[in-house]
Amino acid sequence: MTREEEQIYDGEFGWANQVCMKILVRLGELFNATRLIRISSAHISGVSYKTLGDAPIGFLKSLADANGKAKVKATLNPQSFSPEYLGKKLPKNIREKQFTILEQFERMGFTRSLTCTPYYLQRPEAGSHLAWAESSAVVYANSVLGAWTNREGGPSALAAAIIGKTPDYGMHMAGNREPTILVNVEKPLQNETEFGALGIHLGKILGNKIPLINGLKNASEDSLKQLGAALATTGMTNMFRRDASSEKRGIEKVSVEAEDIKRTIEGLSTAARHEPDLVFIGCPHCSLDEIRHIAGEVEGKKVKQRTECWVCTSRHNMEKAADYVKIIERTGAHVLADMCTIVSWTEMLGIRTIMTNSAKTAYYAPTLNKAQTILVPQEECLKTAFKG
Ligand code: F3S
Repeated sequence: MTREEEQIYDGEFGWANQVCMKILVRLGELFNATRLIRISSAHISGVSYKTLGDAPIGFLKSLADANGKAKVKATLNPQSFSPEYLGKKLPKNIREKQFTILEQFERMGFTRSLTCTPYYLQRPEAGSHLAWAESSAVVYANSVLGAWTNREGGPSALAAAIIGKTPDYGMHMAGNREPTILVNVEKPLQNETEFGALGIHLGKILGNKIPLINGLKNASEDSLKQLGAALATTGMTNMFRRDASSEKRGIEKVSVEAEDIKRTIEGLSTAARHEPDLVFIGCPHCSLDEIRHIAGEVEGKKVKQRTECWVCTSRHNMEKAADYVKIIERTGAHVLADMCTIVSWTEMLGIRTIMTNSAKTAYYAPTLNKAQTILVPQEECLKTAFKG
């Protein structure tokens, strides 16, 4: 440690800095890191009251009371409801607890981004070091943006934000970013749902190996976002590579057949009938392109009676795409910011069956939302949600 880091560790810069430094040093010891490195941003998960619960609120308040302050740009994952729509349907005590959590983060200088796609607010530079805790964003940052981050837990990302540094291990070291397995996708993937299914399938078989995936040549960033989110859902992989020209000889190889993708999608569809209470798009949060595309598909149509249709995105994108948001909302669908359906209270709203294009949502909803699932591409989601 540097002299200044030692002083922080010894409490010379106050309790909040001391406790955060202790978290980072302990983490570094666990992974044999020899130093702390500066980060350009931190992203914190565990913001929803539904997943956080009551216990950590006191800790957050103590940190804020002790003048803990973020030293770098620090963003927050989604909370448990959108204030404008779902917030009004939930009990007062839930709303108050959620606002208390957000208040503590704001007192510490965190940006109220409330999104799992912080890279749409500000795209990190390739090669920059980050301490991000949302697993889908971690894979996207490492694989698509070329930034360097481990998959942090909520507390370590919080500590990194307040210290402005993270231990130097894992994905921060060039030698750990080399592919260790070659994956051949035998049939071109047709839509974002198939990209997600590939991620779910690979996550289960790769452990923490880094795949070099052949067959992603023309994949859009939105499709890669689905792949990465799903990969992190079932496995510990924090990165994929997709440049076939860098193919390494002598590494293990595995093939993914069309049947693997089909079987994965079928396995994630647990509902017996295609009659969802909720049609949900926006896990991870929608990009501007996705919002624009949805608006084009649904303009002039109406959502079916007794069906909810939600499109989730960041407030940042919602404001940027205001005209498209109006088009979508005129149909009776809701564009919701700040929240994540998976960490929301859908069961309290009577939602029992969720149709989605997101493999990650389909994977988690049966346990976290106690809902049955139907996993289909966006096109079919919209066809189901809308009349005509
Ligand atoms: Fe984002 Fe929630 Fe999906 S945090 S990645 S919308 S599960």
